[in-house]
Amino acid sequence: MVSRSSAARCYALVPCAGAGERAGAGGPKQYRAVGGRSVVWHTLAALSGVSRLAGTLVVLSAADGEFERHAGEAACWTARVGGATRAASVANGLAALRERGVRDDDWVLVHDAARCLVLPSDIERLIEACEHDAVGGLLALPVADTLKRGSPGDAERVALTLDRRSLWQAQTPQMFRLGLLGEALARAGDAVTDEASAVELLGHSPRLVRGSLENFKLTWPADFALAERLLRTRA
Ligand code: C5P
Repeated sequence: MVSRSSAARCYALVPCAGAGERAGAGGPKQYRAVGGRSVVWHTLAALSGVSRLAGTLVVLSAADGEFERHAGEAACWTARVGGATRAASVANGLAALRERGVRDDDWVLVHDAARCLVLPSDIERLIEACEHDAVGGLLALPVADTLKRGSPGDAERVALTLDRRSLWQAQTPQMFRLGLLGEALARAGDAVTDEASAVELLGHSPRLVRGSLENFKLTWPADFALAERLLRTRA
C-alpha cells in the first residue's frame, strides 16, 4: 500500500502581488532588475532547479500587466488573485491550487517572489526535513546579532535588549499541507506576516530548518546592490 506521505506531492506558491514600497524601486520590487534579469525571474529559476516540485503557482495582483514580460520562459501557473495583504494573496493562491487539482494532503511551499537568492539545495533540504513531519516547517536562521527594541516614543533609542538565545529569523519557503495551511490562514486572518505564525495559532509547532544568509528578502534599496554582487560571484 502507498503511504499517505509518499503519495503527497510538493507544489510551490509564490506570492508576487506586493507593491514593494519599502524598496523605493518606483514599482513592485519583484520586477526590478538584478544581474540583468528581474527579481522574480531569478526566483523562478531557483524553483525550477528543484526536481521535487510538481508545479509552481505565482499569485499576481489583478491589475498586473508586467509579469509575463519579466518571467521569461518560466514554466508556471499564474493566478491574478492577489489580496490586500500577503496572507490574503497566499490564501487566494491556495484556492487557485485547489482548482488545479492540488489536494489537501499535498505539500505547498510558499516562497516570497522577493527572495530571489534562495538555493535549490536549501529547498531540497527543507523538503527532506519536513515531508514526513506531522506539521511542516520553514527555512530559518538562528539570530547571531544582539537584538534591541526601539522605544515607543523614539524608535532610534534603545528601550531594551532582547535575549537572542533560541531566536530564529523566519525565511521562506514555508512548507505545509494545503489543507492545514488553508484552515490556519482562514482562522488567523490578514494580520500574520508568514504562514508559520498562522499554523502556530492553531497550536502546532512548525519545524525550523536551518537556511542560508543569502536567502534574504530584498526589501530596502541597498539590498539590490548586495543581491547583484552575490549573483556575480555565483556566476
Ligand atoms: O511586503 P513583503 O516584503 O512582506 O512581501 C513578501 C512577498 O509577498 C513579496 O513577494 C510580495 O510580492 C508578496 N505580497 C503579495 N501580496 C501582498 C503583499 C505582498 O503577494 N498584498
